Amino acid sequence: MTAREDTARTVLVLGATGYVGSRLVPALLAAGHDVVASSSRPPEPAAYEWGTSVEWRRCDATDVGQVERALEGVDALCYLVHSLDGPRFADRDRLAARTTAEAVSRSGVSRVVYLSGLVPDPGGRALSEHIASRHEVESLLASSGRSTLALRAGVVIGAGSTSFEIVRQLATLLVVQPVPSWMHSKVQPVAVSDVARALVEAVGDDDVTGSLDVGGPDVLRYPDLLASFSRCAGLLRLRLPVPAAPSTAVGLGMAALSAAPPRTALALAHSLRDDMVCRPGHTWVPADGEPLLDAETAIRRALSGDPGVPESARHGDAVWTRRQPLVEAVPSPASMRAASLLALRRAREASGQARRLWAGPGR
Ligand SMILES: NC(=O)c1ccc[n+]([C@@H]2O[C@H](COP(=O)([O-])OP(=O)(O)OC[C@H]3O[C@@H](n4cnc5c(N)ncnc54)[C@H](OP(=O)(O)O)[C@@H]3O)[C@@H](O)[C@H]2O)c1
Repeated sequence: MTAREDTARTVLVLGATGYVGSRLVPALLAAGHDVVASSSRPPEPAAYEWGTSVEWRRCDATDVGQVERALEGVDALCYLVHSLDGPRFADRDRLAARTTAEAVSRSGVSRVVYLSGLVPDPGGRALSEHIASRHEVESLLASSGRSTLALRAGVVIGAGSTSFEIVRQLATLLVVQPVPSWMHSKVQPVAVSDVARALVEAVGDDDVTGSLDVGGPDVLRYPDLLASFSRCAGLLRLRLPVPAAPSTAVGLGMAALSAAPPRTALALAHSLRDDMVCRPGHTWVPADGEPLLDAETAIRRALSGDPGVPESARHGDAVWTRRQPLVEAVPSPASMRAASLLALRRAREASGQARRLWAGPGR
């Protein structure tokens, strides 16, 4: 991407309350843009440190009227809508992308930027449902006819990021970590601050269209990623190769042993077989020449608790990713604290379900 003179724009971030969105908004504000923050739930400005510096417009991306209102007066759209933890996520994401693209084509928006997933070469196999859905959303958004760029990322490192939290929770809980023989595919993790940097740059450069991959300098295999986490967290852990296990069984194991929503864990497990690395010649190179963070620096920032870095946890992060200082303060081995945390979350889920059943129809 070539640098060009930056002009302030009004940018709608659709999905501003999500993991990436909540880190992107302050980066856009710092770059001088006006931001309209949007998601389908009622706005909660107090939950975000930038909450009072933006205009909030509630918008369900599947509702054409709401999308049209959200796009009023907007120059550029950052599309971060994702509903992986719900049933039939591909259908809902397709409807949201199609509705948004159609509204964009009737609006004054000149630039659309979307954060997608790396698309592996599946070697004759079908793409996983999750990746196929991300790819489909790219095509739907491009159909608006406006300058559109999909930035594709694999594992995004930062506290609160789905893939990082699953690695963190499994690597902390399991002293012995079973690694199925097929789970040696390559990943190219990227720090969330670099993802935000790439998105901000893309908003300001309408000339780059199509898709570009975003990845840090390290290409690792999954066991190396687990090892890197353990090293950064000061944990002594052993990875044990195990015979082939179906990816559905691995997904169920990931869901049982982490607090991730089961559908999310299952959807991600099906992507673990493929190499998730950037395409040579189709990879984002920062216009400012500043290097991207390496994986261990990004992990250390995620563990640092420093509120000044985007990799650290935020108050608005998904509940299942939040730390519990009281549990973590108990002087016991990290794996026992992780087990206590998991038990606490399971107990909360069960009591939430019981409350919903109790308050069910007829009461
Ligand atoms: N996090 C990662 O590790 C990672 C890695 C690679 C690529 N990506 C890509 O980055 C993008 C954002 O991911 P994320 O991790 O930030 O997701 P996320 O945390 O799940 O956030 C999704 C956002 O979409 C909003 N949303 C969902 N359904 C909506 C609807 N119908 N209308 C309007 N807003 C809706 C959510 O808010 P409401 O629930 O309030 O609507 C939320 O703000 C996705 O395309 C994902 O594939 C993420």
